[in-house]
Amino acid sequence: MEIAPSILSADFGILDREIKAICDGGCDFVHVDVMDGHFVPNLTIGPVVVKAVKKAATKPLDIHLMVENNTFFVELFAPFKPEFISFHIEEEKHVHRLVQKIKSYGIKPAVVLNPHSSLSEIEYLLEDLDMVLLMSVNPGFGGQKFIPSVLEKAKKLKKMIDEKNLNVKIEVDGGVSDKNIKDLKDAGVDIVVAGSYVFGSSSYKDAISSLR
Ligand code: DX5
Ligand code: ZN
Repeated sequence: MEIAPSILSADFGILDREIKAICDGGCDFVHVDVMDGHFVPNLTIGPVVVKAVKKAATKPLDIHLMVENNTFFVELFAPFKPEFISFHIEEEKHVHRLVQKIKSYGIKPAVVLNPHSSLSEIEYLLEDLDMVLLMSVNPGFGGQKFIPSVLEKAKKLKKMIDEKNLNVKIEVDGGVSDKNIKDLKDAGVDIVVAGSYVFGSSSYKDAISSLR
């Protein structure tokens, strides 16, 4: 299981130290939540902060866009060379085109599904993706309650991926803790995002190891 702490729950007054602590603590990716105040009712970070995040991080970035104008934000963040850029399928008319655009920068594309969105949306897209991100909360805020129906969704997605013999990772984001990590693993999830669980603990290293 790979662990991607979400910096949304970090102390932004000491962001560089927070990022160093999760990287030294053994995380696999640094999950960066970009919100535009339109797609979700919250506003987070732009390129100035992502530049600082990139500078402090010794692990690859995993950028999660929760925005209306995906193309604009992909162009804005591609220069930071994240491992993944993921965008919400609910907010994109030309999903296949945007996936190709992300790939053209040498970045791995991922599509995000909100809790209510169906897997059928990505059936004809899977082979073009490196990852599918399943939301286990409604996007917008850290510290929300885990929606358990994501477990069945992850199992179905894992089956779809295996049947097509593809190498697509499954990531789950929202309300992840030591209480549901075993169920997520059993459902076939490869990467978990954990914000409040990691940053709310006294030792980030211990929190990351307990999840792993
Ligand atoms: C929610 C964000 C998540 C969030 C996770 O919109 O995408 O990454 O920060 O935080 P926790 O782990 O506290 O639910
Ligand atoms: Zn996220």
